[in-house]
Amino acid sequence: MSVKPIIAPSLLSADFNRLGEEIEMLNHSEADWVHLDVMDGVFVPNISFGMPVIKAVRKLSEKPLDTHLMIVQPERYIHTFKEIGCDMLTVHWEACTHLHRTIYQIKEHDMLAGVALNPHTPVAGLEDIIQDIDLVLIMSVNPGFGGQKFITRALHRIAELRAMIKRNHSNALIEVDGGVNSDNIADIIKAGADAVVAGNAVFKAENPENMIHQLKHL
Ligand code: DX5
Ligand code: ZN
Repeated sequence: MSVKPIIAPSLLSADFNRLGEEIEMLNHSEADWVHLDVMDGVFVPNISFGMPVIKAVRKLSEKPLDTHLMIVQPERYIHTFKEIGCDMLTVHWEACTHLHRTIYQIKEHDMLAGVALNPHTPVAGLEDIIQDIDLVLIMSVNPGFGGQKFITRALHRIAELRAMIKRNHSNALIEVDGGVNSDNIADIIKAGADAVVAGNAVFKAENPENMIHQLKHL
């Protein structure tokens, strides 16, 4: 593989009793971004963490914060996420009535704007907005929890999206989230992904830093 994939470890699977050490480990590692999963208990059936934790992460992390908002009406918090130091903000297609406006609000705040698609949401729904967005997050599990099994249909969706990006001369990156590990990353990249999120695969590994290296170079 010539171009190395972007690796975004998901802090959701980290040991929160040792959050500082986990972030130091990421600083030393070949991780490119830190993936932050914000859940509100409404859009998804789980609650994770919010602003105070992200502020603490920002203080320690040397890597860009790739923030995945699994919340309803995410537009209410764009300003706050910028203020606390997020670099990229990804909102769910399913959670935004005025997606185009929300995307431009994120960009006006000088963050990269991403759109996440649940496993059932047709990729074709992005055709009219693909030129406006910086990143598409293809969910390869149903959002809400780490440690779930990769839904293989995601591979077709990545390929379909790659074709759409090409046909529209878009610069959008494709990131894949959920169940990514050293067994399936090669297929994911081959299908056309630029970036992968890895939670359990990294933080439950015997040596997380080695695992990040492995994912980067597989
Ligand atoms: C799921 C989250 C994912 C999750 C990934 O709702 O969006 O980012 O933390 O964890 P793994 O890699 O364990 O599936
Ligand atoms: Zn995520």
